[in-house]
Amino acid sequence: MNIHGKPHRSIEAEHATRTARIIDQTLLPHLVEWRELQTMEDAAEAIRVMRVRGAPLIGATAAFGLYFALRDDATDGALQKAYDVLHATRPTAINLRWALDRVKRAVAGRNVGERAEAAWQEALAICEADVVTNHAIGRHGLELFRAIHEKKGDAAATLNVMTHCNAGWLATVDWGTAISPIYQAHDAGMKVHVWVSETRPRGQGASLTAFELKEHGVPHTLIVDNNAGHLLQRGLVDVVIVGTDRVTAHGDVANKIGTYLKALAARAHGVPFYVATPVSTIDWTITDGIRDIPIEQRSAREVTHMPGVNAAGGREEVLITPEGTQARNDGFDVTPGELVTALVTEHGVFPATARALQELQAALQASS
Ligand code: MRU
Repeated sequence: MNIHGKPHRSIEAEHATRTARIIDQTLLPHLVEWRELQTMEDAAEAIRVMRVRGAPLIGATAAFGLYFALRDDATDGALQKAYDVLHATRPTAINLRWALDRVKRAVAGRNVGERAEAAWQEALAICEADVVTNHAIGRHGLELFRAIHEKKGDAAATLNVMTHCNAGWLATVDWGTAISPIYQAHDAGMKVHVWVSETRPRGQGASLTAFELKEHGVPHTLIVDNNAGHLLQRGLVDVVIVGTDRVTAHGDVANKIGTYLKALAARAHGVPFYVATPVSTIDWTITDGIRDIPIEQRSAREVTHMPGVNAAGGREEVLITPEGTQARNDGFDVTPGELVTALVTEHGVFPATARALQELQAALQASS
């Protein structure tokens, strides 16, 4: 996707130096600052402090991190140590483990001297596949949007889409998951308007989704998170689509805190609620999202303070509570599969049920 008219990915490999560069997302939308990742610790830090975030991008960044570690020391011990450090950076997005496992498998059985090269190639392959995957999710999502749009009975009508957090190209390598169909609908000439919920406390909707949509020229309106139910009740939303950090084998979905409330409100008002997910985000080892998905507990300070950037580009935080107020900051919540209209994957659209996912898994295994 574009920044100021120039095509970019959220993570770009520098082939000459064998490094990777990322956009520091903690500075968006005020500053577009690229940052070079040169070491495993650079990659781990970038994930930990959310310079990069979003499940697929976390995975891609971790893959480069494992390459950096193997470049410096390709022994089994160093591999496992780096794996553990990277894996511990954030707990909810399963793509982190998925990407680390892919790199680990790619180097398994190789001589120590060949491992770094294999890891580099695997990190590149993960990035390339992510772009293709997200484009395919967009195509399938676009078909759903077309069907919903047609039901409105007026070809010139605007399709009002609600999303939460940022599941756009900044959350992936390119295109995004939930935002990919929005881009593709807009590019195909459909009139699309997006309700962007700000996504307190980190503000990924306000700072990242609004940034992306503005850059791409997609009409959008920012709302406070608590406005979602009101808009759904008034018939101002045709479809809700969000991304996810982990889907269970039975179709429960973890996503940014506040997603569950949107799903409940969408169900109450008969509005379809779709979850866009690459199959790499399905954790086939667990079934019950509420019991089994680890929910990231983040700093209370993100709730008690409002972030901002001053004119000089320095980050500033303002206390919005009485001194010493206790706060709880769950990073994600779980939406049970029965509230999900369908999962939009790169392989098509599937009910969020154990049976449909079992069939998908079997088809994937048969084709691999
Ligand atoms: O805390 P974040 O910003 O990493 O959370 C991101 C989300 O919740 C996204 O919706 C999810 O990772 C899917 S990204 C395609």
